[in-house]
Amino acid sequence: MSALWHQTQSLHPAFKRFNDCLKDDWFLLPYELRLQATHARTLADAGILSSTDADAIATALDEIKRAYIASPSNAMGAPAPLELGDCPASDAEDIHTWLEVELTQRVGDAGKRIHSARSRNDQVATLLAMYLIDSADQLGNHLTHLVRTCAVRAKTWAEIIMPMQTHAQFAAPGSAGFWILRFGDAFNRWNRRAAWLHKDWQHDCPLGAGAVAGSSIPIDRQQQADGLGFDSPALNALNATSSRDNCLEWLALLGHIGITMQSFAADALAFCQTPFDWVDYPKAFGTGSSMMPNKHNPDAMELLRGEACALTAAHHQATTLMKGLTSGYQRDLQTIKPLVRNATETTFNLLSLTTDFIAALEFKQDQLAACFNDGNLMATLAMEDLVKQGTPLRSAHHQIAQRIADGETFNAITPDTLKQYATTGSPNPSITIAAADTLLKDLDDHHR
Ligand code: ARG
Repeated sequence: MSALWHQTQSLHPAFKRFNDCLKDDWFLLPYELRLQATHARTLADAGILSSTDADAIATALDEIKRAYIASPSNAMGAPAPLELGDCPASDAEDIHTWLEVELTQRVGDAGKRIHSARSRNDQVATLLAMYLIDSADQLGNHLTHLVRTCAVRAKTWAEIIMPMQTHAQFAAPGSAGFWILRFGDAFNRWNRRAAWLHKDWQHDCPLGAGAVAGSSIPIDRQQQADGLGFDSPALNALNATSSRDNCLEWLALLGHIGITMQSFAADALAFCQTPFDWVDYPKAFGTGSSMMPNKHNPDAMELLRGEACALTAAHHQATTLMKGLTSGYQRDLQTIKPLVRNATETTFNLLSLTTDFIAALEFKQDQLAACFNDGNLMATLAMEDLVKQGTPLRSAHHQIAQRIADGETFNAITPDTLKQYATTGSPNPSITIAAADTLLKDLDDHHR
């Protein structure tokens, strides 16, 4: 039995399976260690821990960190992301319990004082906030790389003419560059959202809220907020321990990113369907058929489309979980942690896949140019030529429709034709290139 509360009998195994969450908590270890170190200093300043005990705790926390977290450096000697060791086999209920036991084994009675002026309820809310703040930063790096890749490809592909579609029917002339910039624009918006959330979540620190109504032990909560990188302590202990608004915001953002990635995958899959055959699907992103030697399948895009469902699903599960909970910590909240961690990891992996796929993708220009042989893709531009010469729009619309009905075609198009039309939000190559440059400048100005 390893619990922080007074346990008088073993838990029923059917319950214990759900009660214990050390494995699910393990990803929070780096944050738990930082939290403990800051809390120990705050308790020492409040006179609850002696400075000798606080030093002993700091040393023990360093030892635990070295035992479970590697800080590798890459080949150039630069710091690389932390590598978390395996979760130890332990009977501890959760990471807070496990760490208090570890500390107490190393520092004796000082370990028994560390939980003063706090509860696991404010602790877990703080750890999640710290994790989300770091993750939003990492998400910004992923999105920046992806948006940059889209913008660079948009410039390269600005003169590869391509039919744009509405209702999945050919509609108007565009270019492959114009198409990929649709995703650069969308992912850039999510990048701005991630940056905003990253800042907003630093606003207040739940630690010190205690179980539900604070603590009468006079700790300096501003010192805790400062130590953990927040602006100030949370104003209301009840809200700080009840709310998982930051998790919901994060999962909503990841769900939106998932929808954008699914849309990208759906486009890429449409483009490589046999009747279209617009792209040279990169071989490293597909597999063959075990039966049909003629097949090469676009599995990576199908998996992207399939795996991204987990992101909207995680948001749905989390909102269902939170809906109707009364104020004050309740154990249901424990189940949000794996949703957050899994959705975060899935998003980062899928964003890497999307970015690398875009960098490897090539278009078949001849196949695309052949699409302009029918479909009258120039009809709207021809109609607008009449409008610009003074014909009322509705009359021009009817005139062109009649000319099509009479057998006239509006198919002649080359990259040079596109250059003559500076349409709004335009597929005109020079306007696509200028828009891509605007995105690249935005990244340089705001996202490293
Ligand atoms: N393991 C819980 C969680 O992750 C925190 C512990 C809360 N337990 C309690 N009895 N208040 O949400």
